[in-house]
Amino acid sequence: MSSLQNKQILLGITGGIAAYKSAELVRRLQDQGADVRVVMTKAAMEFITPLTLQALSGKPVHTELLDPEAEAGMGHIELARWGDLLVVAPASADFIARLAQGQGNDLLSTLCLARRSKLAIAPAMNQAMYANASTQDNLKTLTERNIAIWGPASGAQACGDVGPGRMLEVDELVEKTAAEFQSGLLAGKRVVITAGPTREAIDPVRYISNHSSGKMGYALAQACVEAGAICQLISGPTQLDCPPHCQRIDVDSALQMHSAAMDATNECDIFIATAAVADFRPRQAANQKIKKQADSETMTLEMIKNPDILADVASAQQRPFCVGFAAETQEVERYARGKLERKKLDMVIANDVSQQGIGFNSDDNQVLIVDANGSKPLDKLSKTELARHLVKEISERFDKAN
Ligand code: C5P
Repeated sequence: MSSLQNKQILLGITGGIAAYKSAELVRRLQDQGADVRVVMTKAAMEFITPLTLQALSGKPVHTELLDPEAEAGMGHIELARWGDLLVVAPASADFIARLAQGQGNDLLSTLCLARRSKLAIAPAMNQAMYANASTQDNLKTLTERNIAIWGPASGAQACGDVGPGRMLEVDELVEKTAAEFQSGLLAGKRVVITAGPTREAIDPVRYISNHSSGKMGYALAQACVEAGAICQLISGPTQLDCPPHCQRIDVDSALQMHSAAMDATNECDIFIATAAVADFRPRQAANQKIKKQADSETMTLEMIKNPDILADVASAQQRPFCVGFAAETQEVERYARGKLERKKLDMVIANDVSQQGIGFNSDDNQVLIVDANGSKPLDKLSKTELARHLVKEISERFDKAN
């Protein structure tokens, strides 16, 4: 199964003779299961028509920055966020210069500025333009900004020159795109992830729960699969689809999640607990719906403590590498370190849930990694991107510990 399955690829096409190869690139990425949307610059449209790319991608092609019709569909910021990866192929010398300067004077350059995903460019130009010091300086700047430069290849050029400046072949571009989603960092490792909220029954129709969306755990499951892991997701009730190639075990209550986690522990290399497990449950769930008492203004529920799933997994005899999450509203590092030590964990990923726009139900998160050697803050990222970074951090520590 291709690592491009269900991946959302934004393909930017700029003005160069190699633009005709981008049509084939769209096809080949789609053959691998990717969902491709095309953005073209004005110059690109001199070489290949949007209609060709629309017919191939089956989606409207985006060309204008300020097009009310397009903005009513998928606005440019939405489009920038949509892509799991932004690939510009071919990337002309002019586009590279605009990118290096951070210009936003057309749709594609604006998307590059507004994107959250990684950006890769495949330069294609005349060999003298490529060798020019300005182009080389621009490419150096882009590399320093963590933009991947794919190619160029060397050889005969459309203009008759010979030298470096040819766009990489479509095969190589597809390979490089796929490689972005398959780090191999967790190849063959068995990972179990708990995610989402738990529901603690009061009676057959009522329960106690919380606002956890499960997004962080699901994003981690997807990133683990991308990194080659065999991944099991033990999930409380969420609205999310199970990531492809991941086995999901659905549970409701903390006790069910505990039992599924303990069953999975022996067979697991890495255990990641992202679930927002209810700390307490009603001592006894009523068999029948509890009726209102006409003569009483109050109702008392006796609650008992739920088992700590993560702590129990971490103290099991055949113990996996254990990663916990800590949502705090103050003294994030101190409380996270307390959890690391108390629950005997290898690593805690902590965030400050009192901050607006990160954590619980949002699409973004900003975390601090706490382990026995110290703490490391990560930048605010989408949960999908953050998950990929976390997989890297987890795999580095796992490798050291084993
Ligand atoms: O102690 P606290 O709930 O803040 O710890 C958070 C971490 O412990 C999370 O990783 C959470 O998934 C895990 N946890 C658990 N079982 C519980 C409570 C928390 O696995 N009953």
